[in-house]
Amino acid sequence: MKSIAVIGSGTMGTGIAQVFAQRHYKVVLIDSNEEALERSKRTIEKSLDIQISKELISLEDKESTLNHLILSSDLHSINSSTDLVIEAITERLEVKQDVFKQMDQLSGPHTILASNTSSISIHKLSEVTSDPSRVIGMHFMNPVPRMPLVEIIQSKSTDVSIVDQIVQLTNDLDKIPVVVNDHPGFVSNRILMPMINEAIECLGDGVATVDGIDQVMKLGMSHPMGPLFLADLIGLDVCKFILDVLYKELHKEKYKSHQLLDQLVSEGHLGRKTNRGFYDYTNPKNPKPISF
Ligand code: NAI
Repeated sequence: MKSIAVIGSGTMGTGIAQVFAQRHYKVVLIDSNEEALERSKRTIEKSLDIQISKELISLEDKESTLNHLILSSDLHSINSSTDLVIEAITERLEVKQDVFKQMDQLSGPHTILASNTSSISIHKLSEVTSDPSRVIGMHFMNPVPRMPLVEIIQSKSTDVSIVDQIVQLTNDLDKIPVVVNDHPGFVSNRILMPMINEAIECLGDGVATVDGIDQVMKLGMSHPMGPLFLADLIGLDVCKFILDVLYKELHKEKYKSHQLLDQLVSEGHLGRKTNRGFYDYTNPKNPKPISF
């Protein structure tokens, strides 16, 4: 595989495009929003500069990475010579299905169509394409350049040879693939989201402060960051979308998003990306827990 298209230049698409470009794949990063593309470019440059300052890469590596990256606001940048398209847009089934239809029409018969979805059924996405056997889940973790895992989701229609190719590609990115089956939330979010929701319920019930809850999980359970800090990093809207999918598909109360999460999302406090969630990021180097 040489030529990769990534659709959605938000938190995840930006990181995914960066790791492929750093491995010398030709990457086109597509977003309908020009500002998101500009932000994405700045984020990648900043990330590469940090890697240079830590002597992990050279200035030439940075230039080479940027030379392997093209930004585009047009889905027609995908064509029959694209080897792999990774969709990383908003976590909504209908919106993703619409984009999958277009990915299918624009790509060639050999192109693999992947989604970075956190919870949506890969089979449901594949149903709108002409060849569901080429559709697979490639669930990167946030922040993509740092996290080793890629959860590979095979649906009942995914061809075994496609799974093998994606496993090999993931290894080539120096990441670790774990293949799982196509159930809502897969493994990662089926376990993680109820924990985050429970942490929010603890906060709502007044069991402890934001800082108290995160400290207990960090110092007592050896989590590298607390669940509320992690929720802010993921994006509170993304957490809610995932919980909504889990609740709708698995019909269990434990997946019903807590009202405090719903309220923060409706107020536009989406975590780190809007500078406010459970923490205030006005000074990003020193986030301040908010009193609820
Ligand atoms: P985000 O909200 O940061 O970015 C989404 C981007 O998609 C935006 O820039 C938006 O302009 C663009 N977009 C929306 N509709 C589009 C369309 N039709 N055509 C082109 N661009 C479009 O979202 P984020 O957090 O990057 O999530 C993307 C996907 O990755 C979601 O499926 C999410 O569940 C999944 N994911 C998110 C993780 C996280 O920690 N945020 C972790 C792993 C997966």
